[in-house]
Amino acid sequence: LIAALSPKPLAGKRVLITAGPTFEAIDPVRGITNLSSGKMGFSLARAAREAGADVTLVAGPVHLDTPRGVRRIDVRSAQQMHDAVLPAAPLHDLFIATAAVADWRPASLSAHKIKKDGKKIAPTFELSENPDILAAVAALPDRPYCVGFAAESEKLEHHAREKLLRKRVPLIVGNLGPATFGRDDNALLLVDADGARALPEDGSRCDKQELARALMQDIARRLPVRD
Ligand code: CTP
Ligand code: CA
Repeated sequence: LIAALSPKPLAGKRVLITAGPTFEAIDPVRGITNLSSGKMGFSLARAAREAGADVTLVAGPVHLDTPRGVRRIDVRSAQQMHDAVLPAAPLHDLFIATAAVADWRPASLSAHKIKKDGKKIAPTFELSENPDILAAVAALPDRPYCVGFAAESEKLEHHAREKLLRKRVPLIVGNLGPATFGRDDNALLLVDADGARALPEDGSRCDKQELARALMQDIARRLPVRD
């Protein structure tokens, strides 16, 4: 009912969203990942669909149902997420990066399960940095409007603004963790070139789906009007 009654400010718009963690394999049975639940990205995908958009969701390994009417592409590693997103991005009006992309991957992948060597010496792993998907999309000549997320444990506005400048995106949505990770409610800080604004405005917390709806309405107002 809410979906049917809500305004459709994204009618005719194509929206691309990344969500969830990525998984970086060490060997066939092990890997590096993080605790992102994907809930924020899935809630935003649902909200964008309700707002009338054509939505593609590129999801890392999560345990969530695909929102109704949303096209979903499942990936595992950051490189796979990058390779799914980059060619698709120019076909979209809006790109929202909510994924908690693993910053590093093992420099080499072992084809077989790594075994204990019997000498009680633990293996060490060299890491390589993963591509920054958001920065790569924002650097495309035919880029969509780009929105990043920043989950921080302290100095939220400071770190969010640093990411706004470093990744050259017009909007970073900040939230304080790890208290928020996996929870059904959240509170956000919208940081752009003009300043910062809390959502909900009174600084309280609210349900993630309600928050996602409010955020999508705000983002819709930022999109350039096309003729
Ligand atoms: N991001 C991305 N690709 C990466 C890393 C981050 O697309 N390889 C995106 C995230 O989806 C998010 C934003 O960039 O929208 C910020 O992610 P974050 O991890 O906070 O930023 P980093 O640049 O990785 O900085 P750090 O983790 O050191 O704070
Ligand atoms: Ca990171």
